[in-house]
Amino acid sequence: MSAPQSGILPEANSDATFLVLLLNNDTHSLTTVRQFAKTFPGKVEELRQRHPDSKLSATLAFGSAAWTLLFHDKDYPSELTPFVALRNDDRLAPSTQGDVLIHIRSNRKDVNFELSRMIMEQLGESVRREEEVSGFRYLDSRDITGFVDGTENPTGDNRAAVTLIPEGQPLAGGSYIHCQRYIHNMPHWNACPAHQQEQVIGRTKEENIEFSSEEKAPTAHIKRVNLKENGKSLEILRHSMPYGDSREHGLFFIAYAHTARHFNLMLEQMIHADTNGHYDHLMRYTQAVSGTAFFAPSLGFLDAL
Ligand code: HEM
Repeated sequence: MSAPQSGILPEANSDATFLVLLLNNDTHSLTTVRQFAKTFPGKVEELRQRHPDSKLSATLAFGSAAWTLLFHDKDYPSELTPFVALRNDDRLAPSTQGDVLIHIRSNRKDVNFELSRMIMEQLGESVRREEEVSGFRYLDSRDITGFVDGTENPTGDNRAAVTLIPEGQPLAGGSYIHCQRYIHNMPHWNACPAHQQEQVIGRTKEENIEFSSEEKAPTAHIKRVNLKENGKSLEILRHSMPYGDSREHGLFFIAYAHTARHFNLMLEQMIHADTNGHYDHLMRYTQAVSGTAFFAPSLGFLDAL
């Protein structure tokens, strides 16, 4: 059994820290990061036991260049590539690929802080910090646009089926991750009447009820990303969180899946206009400013380092 890292499967928490790091390419730094990776799950578990109410969990993942540098003697995750940037008209999904992602989740901001501080202390000069974002639960699990986010996430056993490479395959228990930091244009969004906002998302705002297929605009967010192949839904597990301050804010989007394909196909549907000129109208109100792709190996992989 290739157990997954602790940050992948649990239900939503109230707080998260997203750390994206760049690796220094010298022997000492690479050795430090490999040693860190081996001990990381144990450190998370120790801190969780000290603060059980926090429900602390975390995921450590690597970008394609970092994987090659750190684990050249191991299997390569066959779908791991740098984030694929997309552009269509004025809609842009940039790639700002990093080397290491640490996704910390819990119900206590102080415990998240404690873990991120310990991590950076241990990694020292072997890494540079590219991005650090603190996510928080906003109201009753809403995005800052005011719409509940995460409703249609996979539940129960399906969470593992959606996120983890199955047993028997190379790197079983591992998961592909995509991140994008979005900055919302709230003055523009707030100028849009609520019934139009509901058409943009495809659900009602207050009650969070999905529109019927006939009611849903072809440009609605959930219409664009709801993809099927041979009658089967293409799924991802989202652990996105609102972030920011009074001046700049939005969504730190993060999705886990057993394949990188699902996210890439969904993002294409959001950005690229189809033959009818339809694209995701949510893109009119928010702008992605980062885009990164990673692979989170199983606990067994890290332990064997
Ligand atoms: C600013 C960025 C985004 C915002 C504010 C946002 C917001 C939302 C909201 C409010 C929902 C409906 C409730 C739910 O089921 O969670 C939703 C659903 C969903 N979103 Fe997003 N989203 C964003 C970006 C993305 C991206 C980049 C992807 C994938 C490439 C994505 C994939 C999905 C999926 C798969 C669903 C569920 C659709 C369904 O089956 O009904 N979202 N999103």
